[in-house]
Amino acid sequence: MNQSAALERTESALPPIDVSRAALYQDESWQEPFRRLREQAPVQYVPDSDFGPYWSISTYQPIVHAEALPKVFSSSWEYGGIAIPGGVEAPINGEIRMPMFIAMDPPHHTAQRRTIAPSFGPSEVAEMKAEVQARTAEVLDSLPIGEAFNWVDRVSIELTTGMLAKLFDFPWEERAKLTYWSDMGGNVELMKTPEDLARLNEALFEMGAAFAGLWQQKLANPGKDLISVMLRSDAMSHMSEQEFIGNLILLIVGGNDTTRNSMSAFAWGLSQFPDERAKLEADPSLIPNAVQELVRWQTPLAHMRRTVAEDTEFEGAQMKKGDKVVLWYISANRDESVFKDADKVIVDRPNARRHLSFGYGIHRCVGARVAELQLTTLLEEMAKRRLRANVIAEPERVATCFVHGYKEVMVELSRY
Ligand code: HEM
Repeated sequence: MNQSAALERTESALPPIDVSRAALYQDESWQEPFRRLREQAPVQYVPDSDFGPYWSISTYQPIVHAEALPKVFSSSWEYGGIAIPGGVEAPINGEIRMPMFIAMDPPHHTAQRRTIAPSFGPSEVAEMKAEVQARTAEVLDSLPIGEAFNWVDRVSIELTTGMLAKLFDFPWEERAKLTYWSDMGGNVELMKTPEDLARLNEALFEMGAAFAGLWQQKLANPGKDLISVMLRSDAMSHMSEQEFIGNLILLIVGGNDTTRNSMSAFAWGLSQFPDERAKLEADPSLIPNAVQELVRWQTPLAHMRRTVAEDTEFEGAQMKKGDKVVLWYISANRDESVFKDADKVIVDRPNARRHLSFGYGIHRCVGARVAELQLTTLLEEMAKRRLRANVIAEPERVATCFVHGYKEVMVELSRY
């Protein structure tokens, strides 16, 4: 498209739709507004929202395109990082910004990712299998059959938080804190008022102090856990304390509510589509594909944010340095030009793996294999026991446009 035909910030084929409103996620009504955006304005400027102005990108291809241009679309915490709050001008009053490689650009990102990624390679993750399997079996065997309980608390939280505590040797009896910190860290709604921000900061300070303590302990007394493994790696042992702790928080928090909400999507998603559940129950070899499909369907992180580092024309839109750009994975994963019947869970969907739930490009999720391992194990252990989670009430959802998930999914287990 030539310069004169380019879309200015103020023009749009469709009046701006602010898809950052928490209510859309709380009552699961985001599908329709995103459908209109995908059809009529896949790149749209939203001049006003609780998080300030932003560009919305809602179709698959432009998101992949933006992810392939990290020099133009920055992840840097110095600009405000990877979620919708905050801006270039300044951090929100009092906001803590931790140095984590998810919120860095090359070359810093490249160097730090290179040191951490080997701990999450195929053989390293395969070694975690026995532990994950034993924990999953223990949790499933403790559940009542034919009695109502909250799947989120008893299964999703118990498994993901328990697993992270084991992998990082976090004190077992304090593991509920991991859930709390992760919930606080992922709740962008808390970044709107000074009072909420103060609560958030308190939680982040507490978390930072706890991880600093763990780091010291592992320096003095190394074991087999992942922190000790990372400390033994030449490159990571040279990181500053602040960087090491920032990245530790990223690993423990980043993998927590995302995996948890995928586990909840297993119960809720398959209850919504009983024919697909029957297909999976009849053929457990579909489990690895079903895991990808559930991660696509849920999209545990609804968006990632970038900041424009230099004036640019992108997909026909004129973007200015400092503009916020929100990549709506939740919408790209419903893009019908890529995923047919995208609102449906289809356990043998041939291209389920093409989802963008783990992101794309240089920041693609480092922990994807760990998440896949946990999810696959949960589905395998359910299948071994011929257990079915029957959802008995509409779930209660998390009200935010970042972490896309559930507070409560009431189920009753039965055998098939
Ligand atoms: C279903 C579960 C998960 C989902 C949906 C998910 C999603 C994502 C997404 C979308 C990104 C890209 C961020 C960006 O482009 O800005 C990402 C990056 C990352 N994830 Fe995950 N994640 C999951 C599980 C995990 C786990 C289990 C861990 C660690 C144990 C983890 C650690 C990370 C790290 C360290 C990054 C930063 C990568 C980089 O910037 O190069 N994630 N994740």
